[in-house]
Amino acid sequence: MHVLVVGGGGREHALAWKLAQSPRVTEVSTTSDNPGIAALGGRRCDGDVVAWARDHAVGLVVVGPEAPLADGMVDRLQAAGIPAFGPIGAAAQLEASKTFAKAFMDECGIPTARWSTHEDAAGAHAAVETFGPCVVKADGLAAGKGVIVADDAAVAHAAVDEVFDGRFGTAGARVVVEERLTGPELSVLALCDGVRAVPLIPARDHKRRFDAGQGPNTGGMGAICPPHDVPEGLVEQVRRDVLQPAVDGMARRGTPFRGVLYAGLMLTPDGPRVLEFNVRFGDPECQPLMAMLDEDFLPLALACATGSLPDRPLRWRDGAACCVVMAMGAYPGSYPKGLPITGLPGGDQRDARDLVVFQAGTGPGPDGAVLTRGGRVLGVTAVAGDHDAARDAAYAAVQGISFDTAAWRTDIGAPGVEG
Ligand code: AMP
Ligand code: GLY
Repeated sequence: MHVLVVGGGGREHALAWKLAQSPRVTEVSTTSDNPGIAALGGRRCDGDVVAWARDHAVGLVVVGPEAPLADGMVDRLQAAGIPAFGPIGAAAQLEASKTFAKAFMDECGIPTARWSTHEDAAGAHAAVETFGPCVVKADGLAAGKGVIVADDAAVAHAAVDEVFDGRFGTAGARVVVEERLTGPELSVLALCDGVRAVPLIPARDHKRRFDAGQGPNTGGMGAICPPHDVPEGLVEQVRRDVLQPAVDGMARRGTPFRGVLYAGLMLTPDGPRVLEFNVRFGDPECQPLMAMLDEDFLPLALACATGSLPDRPLRWRDGAACCVVMAMGAYPGSYPKGLPITGLPGGDQRDARDLVVFQAGTGPGPDGAVLTRGGRVLGVTAVAGDHDAARDAAYAAVQGISFDTAAWRTDIGAPGVEG
């Protein structure tokens, strides 16, 4: 089968790498020029995805990022009769609008922080006063940057003004103010076929730029999968109380959820609470998840798109996977592009199992060179028998790769690190 992966970051490299291992996949094409994905040998789709998929006999389109999902790419593929992994636009509202997601959670009885939504600054300022410690969120898609966790009321008031002043463009036309929760964070994702949610093993992103959770929020500086501190039974609890009710709610609304549903959770003293839903794999979480998945992803993705998922737990490798993001030193601020990267593994890494270097913000250079392009450049991902060994292997590999100003957190997946 010819598979097309839409998107070109570390998440999409991990998906393409995993799909390329399927005995049923003949070619993995891509919409990007990510050299890591290109090394898998597929073609480049550089036109309209629906037309290209039809013209090139694509049997499955896997849509990585949220923007094309919210924009209805899966609706258009379905209309053309092309199987697609990912939710339709109406279901992608779970990520595209925080107001929609919070109202939906209340409707389905899914545990989340107390909240209110506002279309004008006066109402939002009043809410800041009633909530006390709070979090201010732009309603729409803001590339993971539209959330301000306020340490005090002054910061929250300033955040309200900033969002309504247009810092996040149209994403900030509405503002959600939420009670501020505390506790370790955890991502639990589930494959969904419109009827059932089948959970994956849990993962933990590390969102802050610097060690020990210091510094600005980023897209994610690394991930451990599964984290060492997940209580027994928690994944089943999240399936029962969060993921399955969300799939049921979407089915009731006539907008069945197919693809992967991501619950970003905080493990509070009162139990898990949903901070956000995403309607796609997390990045970097997707990288250790794909490295840990011990079965063919193609039939699972096809079942989400067009059939029913198997009624059994998925199969996973023993141990843990650790993904360390190598970023530009100035990230998440502005940084130069086009710097050469040395020390990357050669070949397509299709047969790699215990160590894979996923390419995120990279581009092709002359004579086969790989150059930096984004802020998060690489996801160095190792699988080993336990957390310490996975961490050691990932960090040992990081030492062998270099580009100017390369920087990384040194505590991904370390005991006591909660994100
Ligand atoms: P979100 O994009 O909604 O997941 O928010 C990004 C990050 O902000 C989360 O990963 C948390 O670290 C933090 N955050 C979001 N909502 C809350 C909340 N209600 N209480 C505390 N922290 C939060
Ligand atoms: N790593 C967090 C996200 O993908 O939203």
